[in-house]
Amino acid sequence: MTEAASEREKSIRRVRRFYEISAQREWERLEHPTQGALEFAINKAWIKKFLPGSGSRILDIGGGPGRYSIWLAAQGYCVTLGDLSPDLLAIAREKTDEQEVELEQLVEANAVDLSIFTDNSFDAVLCLGPMYHLLEESDRQAVAGELIRVLKPGGHAFVAFLNHLQALRAAVNQDIPFFTPYTFDIVKRWHYDHVMDFPVAGIFSPAWVVHPRDVPPLMERRGFRTVELVSSQSLAGDVQAHLALFAERQPELYKWVLDELVELANDPTIIGSAWHLLYIGEKP
Ligand SMILES: C[S@@+](CC[C@H](N)C(=O)[O-])C[C@H]1O[C@@H](n2cnc3c(N)ncnc32)[C@H](O)[C@@H]1O
Repeated sequence: MTEAASEREKSIRRVRRFYEISAQREWERLEHPTQGALEFAINKAWIKKFLPGSGSRILDIGGGPGRYSIWLAAQGYCVTLGDLSPDLLAIAREKTDEQEVELEQLVEANAVDLSIFTDNSFDAVLCLGPMYHLLEESDRQAVAGELIRVLKPGGHAFVAFLNHLQALRAAVNQDIPFFTPYTFDIVKRWHYDHVMDFPVAGIFSPAWVVHPRDVPPLMERRGFRTVELVSSQSLAGDVQAHLALFAERQPELYKWVLDELVELANDPTIIGSAWHLLYIGEKP
C-alpha cells in the first residue's frame, strides 16, 4: 500500500471511530442552542437561496444522521445521503422512518471517491463535514473534483469548512476550558499548522482548519465559480447562549434578529469571526 493510500485508510478509520462514540450527539447537535442551532438556521437560509426546483436531485455527502437530508426531502427533493460512518447512517435510517420521509438512497460513500455516482447527475450537492476531516491537501482537492464532476452544469455546491481564525478565541474561552498551559502545544499546532486535535479522546476527531481567504481558491482550482462565502454563525458565534435565552424571552424580536444575522452572514468583515464557513459555488 502506498503512503497516500495508507493515510487515507487511517483517516477513514479515525472518522468512523469518532462517530461511533458520538453518533447520538451528532444527531442532537443541530438542535442544541449553543452548539448547532444557529449554524443550522443560517445554513438552511443560505442554501435555500440557491436550491433548484422541487423534485430535483440532491446529494448530501457527509450527511451524517440526516438533518439536512430530511429537511430537503420534506420539501420534495430527491435526496441521496452518503456518509462514511455506518453508525450515523443507522441513525439517518431510523430518523427518516420516524419522520416518514423518503430518501432516494442512503449509502456508505467516501467524498474523496464518488465513483458510485455518474457525471452530471445531481442538481445540487451538500458537503457539510468531509472537508475538515481530511488532513491531506490531495484528499481535499479530490473532494472538490468529485463534487464538480457529479454536479450538473449550473448546479450549486454547499461546502462546510472550519475557520482557522477561531483557534485563539477558543483557546481563551473559559466556558469551555479545553486549553490550559498544559495543552499550549495543541493551540500552537491549531494556530500555526492548521491542524486541530485534542488531548482527550471524544471531543472531536482531528480536523483541518482553514483561513477564510483560502477557501475560494481551493474550490476554484477544480473549476467552481465562487458565489458566496458565509459565516454559519454570522456575528453571533460567541453569544449563542444569550441568543437562545433571547429567543425564549422575546420570540418576536428574535425573529427579526435572526433575519438580520442571516443577511449579515456573508459580510466580508464578519466572515473572520465564523466558527464554520459555508462556501457556495456554481458549476459553470
Ligand atoms: C460534523 S458531521 C456533519 C454531519 C451533517 N452534514 C451535518 O451537518 O449535520 C461530519 C460528517 O462527515 C462525515 N464524513 C467525514 N469524512 C467523510 C468522507 N470522506 N466522506 C463521507 N463522509 C465523511 C462524517 O461521518 C460525518 O457524518
